[in-house]
Amino acid sequence: MITQRPKGTQDWYGSNMYKRTIIEEIARRICKSYNIKEIITPVFEHTILFERGVGETTDVVQKEMYTFQDKGNRSITLKPEGTAGAVRAYLENGLYAESQPTKLFYITQAFRYENPQSGRLRQHHQFGVEIFGSSSPLAEVELITLLMEFMKELGLKGVKLHINSIGCKNCRKTYNDALLSFLHEHEDGLCGTCKERMEKNPLRVLDCKVPGCKVIMKDAPRTIDYLDEECRVHFEELQSLLQDMDIPFVVDTGIVRGLDYYTKTVFEFVNSDDFTLCGGGRYDNLINEVDEKQDIPAVGFGFGIERIINELEAEQVELPSAPPVDMYIGILGKESRSPAYKIVKELRKVGMIVETDYLDRSVKAQMKYANKIGARYTVIIGADELAANKVNVKNMATGEQKEVSLDKIQEVIDINQ
Ligand code: HAM
Repeated sequence: MITQRPKGTQDWYGSNMYKRTIIEEIARRICKSYNIKEIITPVFEHTILFERGVGETTDVVQKEMYTFQDKGNRSITLKPEGTAGAVRAYLENGLYAESQPTKLFYITQAFRYENPQSGRLRQHHQFGVEIFGSSSPLAEVELITLLMEFMKELGLKGVKLHINSIGCKNCRKTYNDALLSFLHEHEDGLCGTCKERMEKNPLRVLDCKVPGCKVIMKDAPRTIDYLDEECRVHFEELQSLLQDMDIPFVVDTGIVRGLDYYTKTVFEFVNSDDFTLCGGGRYDNLINEVDEKQDIPAVGFGFGIERIINELEAEQVELPSAPPVDMYIGILGKESRSPAYKIVKELRKVGMIVETDYLDRSVKAQMKYANKIGARYTVIIGADELAANKVNVKNMATGEQKEVSLDKIQEVIDINQ
């Protein structure tokens, strides 16, 4: 047990860790060009934030939260997603008082007590963006354009955009009536949870994963048939903007998303198996629900980093591997340790990846090690080299050697190669 990680968690190391680093680097680089600033919020928040924000009748809140009482008897929850915390931080720190919109991104861990299976973890990671303060469909377009660029840079080709509109509070009234009467007609076939949820929050029945409920819900009324004028225009404008941007999309009336805060636009990026890699949408009421003094529209997305990595593997996309060690500095004799280590330090300062001996190995063993770690060049520094102020730099690929003075080692190799 002590050497076993908890179910649904993952250790990050080696090539997988490097892939994650590259994904995060691309995300950060693109966000920079969109003028989206990074935010880091706590890993845990007061439970009420998620109950209020994500919604009490959602699977996330009812079944999946890691909630505990802290020593001060407060109910605390490990964040199951990134939006609620970002909203809380936006309000608490008065970011709404700055020029709007506020555009924030995060790379965060998230915790959900799910049944671990492929693509479903108990601790996962999301790259997310939230735009606060814009009710224009151009904000959705900004997010979707960013996501298209992100996936292009990653080399993903098999991911498609699905969009839908679930309307606002106003449309929800007429829609809920229609949905509820449909649900009453089919009540006998629904699972226990759906029977319980249908009166409180009928929309949640649409994202039930129980096969019997799924079959019934295929014929349920569609949200887009119940949009009021404002929501209909918003959805039409979004589609026409996406067309103008040459962004392909499918209107998928089955998307309602599993979290309660969405209004108007909802969207997902799905792979060829229809598995969701990224989900997002507009949530114009959430800020008001968290702080009734504010009424600010918002829109965002969350992209699962583990799901990106799975998709890269499925599409056989190779991300660049970790750069090789540029130079191995071998040390011959204890008296050479300090002068050799000073050279290691200098070479690292000019940007080279440098390794040396920390195990007092023989020269032969050091060369074997240098070869094993794939060092591009090697040098041995001993009393003779130090006295002559000269070393032989060996190119490990060609076997070629070049004699240079100690302060000119970096000139032999091109670190950008
Ligand atoms: P979500 O759809 O619940 O939305 O999660 C976003 C993404 O996180 C999913 O599409 C998936 O890639 C990944 N994900 C979720 N749960 C798991 C899990 N158990 N294991 C692995 N990956 C997972 C949200 O969380 C919203 N906060 C997104 C958003 C931001 N909407 C507006 N702004």
